[in-house]
Amino acid sequence: MGVLRNRAGTLLSGPERSAMPPPCVSDMLAWVGGSILPLREARIPVNDHGLLYGDSLYEAMRTFRGGLFRLSDHFRRLRTTARGLRIPVEWSDSQLEGWVEDLRRHLPAGEHYIRLLLTRGPGEFSYAPDPLQHPTLMIFGGPFQATPREILEKGLTAVTVGVPRSVPNPRMPGLKTGNLLNSRLAFFEAVERGADEALLLTRSGHLAEGASSNLFLILPGEVLATPSLESEILEGVTRTVLLDLARDMGLVVREEELPAVCLAQAEEAFLSSTTRSVAPLRSIDGRELGCPGPVTRRLMDEFIRLTGGL
Ligand SMILES: Cc1ncc(COP(=O)(O)O)c(C=O)c1O
Repeated sequence: MGVLRNRAGTLLSGPERSAMPPPCVSDMLAWVGGSILPLREARIPVNDHGLLYGDSLYEAMRTFRGGLFRLSDHFRRLRTTARGLRIPVEWSDSQLEGWVEDLRRHLPAGEHYIRLLLTRGPGEFSYAPDPLQHPTLMIFGGPFQATPREILEKGLTAVTVGVPRSVPNPRMPGLKTGNLLNSRLAFFEAVERGADEALLLTRSGHLAEGASSNLFLILPGEVLATPSLESEILEGVTRTVLLDLARDMGLVVREEELPAVCLAQAEEAFLSSTTRSVAPLRSIDGRELGCPGPVTRRLMDEFIRLTGGL
């Protein structure tokens, strides 16, 4: 594969880099086994099953006004994923929070990006359950830089890609695992086609979500539509917040399996995620959209009212 480029140039340069807010690795610290060190110096054994088998899960969080946003929702999802993967979580929420706060005390003042990564831990080259195996917990953190408002206002371009959304077990959607290859390949495909973002479909051809975000459409009649949890999507923390805000605002909300044809009916669309809050789309598959359209703008304003920022 050649160098990935989009319209603005090489991947991870120009405006698209700033539309991807997690901090640079060189600015990040890692908590591993109680030690805090520059992330680049953090080490784990190469026989960790996270590395050998992609046997891991993670949570990405951020602060607003200095406080971790929806921390308990992230911990709940972490435990749900761990249960789904049968990785024991040996620590209480308050222990986890304590270690996150230890790490944050070493970061510069300001808003922070935090990522928890839990792997099954080092083990044999075998799938056999090993009662002596212990999970490896890592916490990464760095300064959080929100996507500049002008980039959000300009909007992102998205294309539907051929790579399907894939979950390890369709009967257990919503797990935030370290198996991100389909998302990654989907994103590569989008960038190769000159877009900023990929929209993934389920294997049955329904709309699922972005490579690392949830998808919302505004359909005629100010209807806010988003794929339901049965659509193999991740139950995004931001998605839940936005659905609550939308219902409070009196919008008609449709949370259901959405056929791909809905994209052609959308008057507005946006992606949601922890790192980008609400990211309006200015085109999907080359079709221009209102950006940000009036409903998206109202939701952005409500989100800012709730959190203090985007
Ligand atoms: C596949 C996928 N969907 C949705 C989201 C958005 O979830 P959240 O709002 O919890 O960040 C993410 C976030 O990383 C994701 O990876």
